Amino acid sequence: MITMEFWKYYDVTHKEHLVCNPTSVEKLNELINLLTLKSGSKVLEIATGKGEFLIQLVEKYNVSAIGVDLSPYHLGDAKRKAKERVPNADLTLIEMDGANYKPDTPESFDLACCLGASWIYKGHEGTLKYLILQTKHNGLVVVGEPFWISKPPKEYFDLSEIKYEMFSTHIGNVQIGEELSLRLLYTFVSTHEEWDRYIGLQWYAMDKYIQAYPGDPDLPELLAKLNKEKDLYLKWEREALGWAIYVFRKV
Ligand SMILES: C[S@@+](CC[C@H](N)C(=O)[O-])C[C@H]1O[C@@H](n2cnc3c(N)ncnc32)[C@H](O)[C@@H]1O
Repeated sequence: MITMEFWKYYDVTHKEHLVCNPTSVEKLNELINLLTLKSGSKVLEIATGKGEFLIQLVEKYNVSAIGVDLSPYHLGDAKRKAKERVPNADLTLIEMDGANYKPDTPESFDLACCLGASWIYKGHEGTLKYLILQTKHNGLVVVGEPFWISKPPKEYFDLSEIKYEMFSTHIGNVQIGEELSLRLLYTFVSTHEEWDRYIGLQWYAMDKYIQAYPGDPDLPELLAKLNKEKDLYLKWEREALGWAIYVFRKV
């Protein structure tokens, strides 16, 4: 349980990340190339984080984009970046809970996505259902979601905030989409190396923060949480938990 300001931990631990999920920048570029959007296409991204994916879509395809995120830190980073890189773009960044975001017109987006925040809609299925509602017929739905490679022992679940029921398997994530009548186009499954980079950058960023702010009264709490997550990752999650980006078409 965090008693300091809730978003601070994520801001501190994700300072060095361009993308706040276990996908490499190279793979993100592949995804962006694969999407081949027309200029003026409408894109919605829930939990846009620092906005890198959305801003790259604007840069490459000149799309009209809406990004929603609840963290004032991440959204502040996204706004600064957007001002620098795409100052004249049709890009709206909204600080609010994605669960409450209702676009003016349903089924109006060519692409609706959410990478790494499916808890907002109570899991993978809820996220897909929400995104399907926002997507035009024949549009694209893209999600990033963890999956179980194997089931960790009880000891893990005793210590972790993650419950086994929160995630499916890789094929399960695909089938959940197909049962909602989505057609699978592609999956980008992350490697150990990508996971290690995503998690390791958090340790690195924390060290940098400690060097810069040794007197921060929140440091014991920040470090306790980081160390707990580090242990869970090194002992169990590294072998048991996968991550993939799923590209679906609404048919
Ligand atoms: C794992 S990060 C992923 C960020 C981004 N999609 C990326 O891949 O770089 C999760 C994001 O979800 C955001 N978030 C968490 N709860 C949210 C909510 N209820 N509504 C909107 N955004 C939320 C966090 O602020 C964070 O930016």
